[in-house]
Amino acid sequence: MSDARPIGLFDSGVGGTSIWKEIHQLLPVEQTIYLADSKNAPYGIRPQEQIISLSIKNTEKLLEMGCKLIVVACNTATTNAIKILRNTYNVPFIGIEPAIKPAALQSSNKAVGILATKGTLSSELFTRTSELYAQDINVIEVVGTGLVELIESGKKDSKEIKDLLRNLLKPMIDQKIDYLVLGCSHYPYLIPVLKEILPPEVKIIDSGEAVARQTRTVMQKEGILNTSQELKLRPKFYSNTNPKVLKELIEADKNNYKVEYLDF
Ligand code: SIN
Repeated sequence: MSDARPIGLFDSGVGGTSIWKEIHQLLPVEQTIYLADSKNAPYGIRPQEQIISLSIKNTEKLLEMGCKLIVVACNTATTNAIKILRNTYNVPFIGIEPAIKPAALQSSNKAVGILATKGTLSSELFTRTSELYAQDINVIEVVGTGLVELIESGKKDSKEIKDLLRNLLKPMIDQKIDYLVLGCSHYPYLIPVLKEILPPEVKIIDSGEAVARQTRTVMQKEGILNTSQELKLRPKFYSNTNPKVLKELIEADKNNYKVEYLDF
């Protein structure tokens, strides 16, 4: 049976659209609704109770809109709140976690950099994953202080962000990492700048594609895929601040996506 209900995604702001793009590419006939909680960005500096209550607020809005599955398109919300969301609501949740396992397995230098928020790096889920898969690896964890704010304000290619990244990445470059794990859904938008700064042998890993594949697998298992091939619905995006940057990142006008302000 075909299920035409939408997939819901939420993030602390515009960054989760990097995950949305992968899901939309893999599952183009699925209707999607994306909530950008930019009013409350960044989540990464907030205490866990606040991250949980914001995640609950976003989830309830998506459920009110009839979503059949929710993608927590934010590393900080995943690592701090997904367990509670799964225990509270009766829909499948897909989360995003920093891809430390593949980086640790593939690193020849046994040195891996991870750029993420304070909320992600200090979470129990991240600590456990790191202990499990990166025991023999020099993991250089760096908090990307200031990056989310700059991306949210449309400055992903600015000199300010390049200078900030040069400083943040220096300890990783000095310790000869050969993999950089992006542990925040905003950071894939920095890949062009990161490539300018990092030595050419450093590989960058983000989790977008893996999350999209996992979403499809869970939907197959749950029998909630939209199998109707003709139906191509217009993706919907809602932001609780001015959606200008959101629109630019997804090229909303060119692609005819619906983007609106919503007070949630
Ligand atoms: C943040 O809001 O601080 C970043 C979101 C993320 O961790 O993906």
